[in-house]
Amino acid sequence: MEKIFLVSLLVLLVSASAHGIAENIYDDIAMLGELEDLKLEEENEIQEKVFEIPGWTSERGGKTLFNVDSFGAIGDGIADDTQAFVSAWDKACLTTKSVFLVPAGGRYLVNATRFRGPCADRLIIQIDGTIVAPGEPNNWDPNNPRTWLQFSKLNAVIFQGSGVIDGSGSKWWDASCKRNKSNPCRGAPTALTIDSSSAVRVKDLTIQNSQQMHFVISHSDSVRVSNVLVSAPGTSPNTDGIHITGSTNVVLQDCKIGTGDDCISIVNASSAIRMKKIYCGPGHGISIGSLGKDNSIGIVTKVVLDTALLRQTTNGLRIKTWQGGSGYVRSVRFENVRMDEVENPIIIDQFYCDSPKACKNQTSAVEISQIMYRNISGTTTSQKAMKFACSDTVPCNRIVLSNINLERKDGTVETYCNSATGFGIGNVQPSADCLNSSNKDTHSDHDQTKDAHLIKFSREEIIHTEL
Ligand SMILES: *[C@@H]1O[C@H](CO)[C@@H](O)[C@H](O)[C@H]1NC(C)=O
Ligand SMILES: *[C@@H]1O[C@H](CO)[C@@H](O)[C@H](O)[C@H]1NC(C)=O
Ligand SMILES: *[C@@H]1O[C@H](CO)[C@@H](O)[C@H](O)[C@H]1NC(C)=O
Ligand SMILES: *[C@@H]1O[C@H](CO)[C@@H](O)[C@H](O)[C@H]1NC(C)=O
Ligand SMILES: *[C@@H]1O[C@H](CO)[C@@H](O)[C@H](O)[C@H]1NC(C)=O
Ligand SMILES: *[C@@H]1O[C@H](CO)[C@@H](O)[C@H](O)[C@H]1NC(C)=O
Repeated sequence: MEKIFLVSLLVLLVSASAHGIAENIYDDIAMLGELEDLKLEEENEIQEKVFEIPGWTSERGGKTLFNVDSFGAIGDGIADDTQAFVSAWDKACLTTKSVFLVPAGGRYLVNATRFRGPCADRLIIQIDGTIVAPGEPNNWDPNNPRTWLQFSKLNAVIFQGSGVIDGSGSKWWDASCKRNKSNPCRGAPTALTIDSSSAVRVKDLTIQNSQQMHFVISHSDSVRVSNVLVSAPGTSPNTDGIHITGSTNVVLQDCKIGTGDDCISIVNASSAIRMKKIYCGPGHGISIGSLGKDNSIGIVTKVVLDTALLRQTTNGLRIKTWQGGSGYVRSVRFENVRMDEVENPIIIDQFYCDSPKACKNQTSAVEISQIMYRNISGTTTSQKAMKFACSDTVPCNRIVLSNINLERKDGTVETYCNSATGFGIGNVQPSADCLNSSNKDTHSDHDQTKDAHLIKFSREEIIHTEL
């Protein structure tokens, strides 16, 4: 199957390059090879990287338990349990094979707290109860304006449990300038942050109603998140689900995310990010970016999304960059994605402007190339089911579309291109012909008969290739 796909692409590339569509066929073949190689790491590989502990209840290994209740936590949702958490953490962190336990049944009110490592080996953070944030923005700790529960400098730890991390965000949402223009635009805390850490496993937790972003993975390596549920109302402003920044080798698997902003956002200095079996909705979709704000450098490479369902989201698969930025987004593959009533199922937006003031067009931009969309189908609510809105001065290139089928209940759909090149293979609906010209003049009809002939020729080659 995979082989046939590659061979058929090669055939298309040969025909395309023969009349100057692809500038350098060897580069393109290498690029497709690279995209094919972007495989999800097997469950076991990462598990091994973290360490082989099935769960803290297992008798093996003689773990020491640090239950927050034993450190004075009340867990009634009213008493301030911050100090109990800090004391339990300090002890757990110093002890080898320990379990920091938030027991089931309790509702623990905890202020903004930094849980710092490094810790002794084999720490498990077991959250079975509910941790809630104080809900009043006016009383928030001014020393931690952007974080609530922040974990940093950890190596080889597991966060797990059937518990809930609840940001009590409703008053923060009301105070947002997105909700009420007369409010000042201020940042709000992220519910859970894992920063400057490596070999981290996060599983089974629920993170909900965050003040702003729900779960940030920053400056970390080898992080695997599975079976995590993220939930907030579709109307809550800037409540991204999982946000990845400055991180490498991150796997998100079997996650269900519904929020008022991006379900997943991947930003600067992130590479080797794999997402598998993701449910998204409501929300703004799965995004790379935004990148390049305030003329900054943005670099994101090697991202794979395999198997996702997006339901009633504003965007599906999105890459968003600001005018005036620099850097690049390269080697991205989105595949096996089902869309249900998504406004912009496939979108590259190099004119992103999330600001009260209009943004000017600039000559510099974050360069976008080697982006593959494969087996993407479902329904859209807008006419422009695919949008490739790229910078006039820094075009998007090597966009590959394969087996795309996007439809609208009442109306036709089309593809919009500005300064984007690439090609389609197999069934691509709506047609992406506007990609194959090398400039924004999408309707020039030069060499059309020759093109048609070459395409027909290559289709026959594909059919006759037996592998
Ligand atoms: C938690 O925050 C409240 C409100 O700012 C404050 O009164 C209380 O002292 C804080 N608790 C701790 C343990 O710092
Ligand atoms: C918007 O915020 C202002 C000032 O905080 C407040 O007076 C006003 O009632 C708010 N408007 C709405 C619609 O909530
Ligand atoms: C993006 O990451 C690069 C390093 O990879 C750094 O030089 C640059 O300053 C970062 N950009 C922003 C906006 O932080
Ligand atoms: C295409 O994607 C859909 C939705 O994820 C999936 O059910 C289907 O098996 C995929 N088809 C192929 C040929 O992989
Ligand atoms: C920026 O350029 C794009 C593409 O040429 C164009 O559609 C858009 O109107 C321009 N925006 C501004 C603010 O000039
Ligand atoms: C390229 O564009 C032309 C004209 O829009 C179209 O007829 C042709 O099928 C396109 N070729 C490919 C490979 O998409």
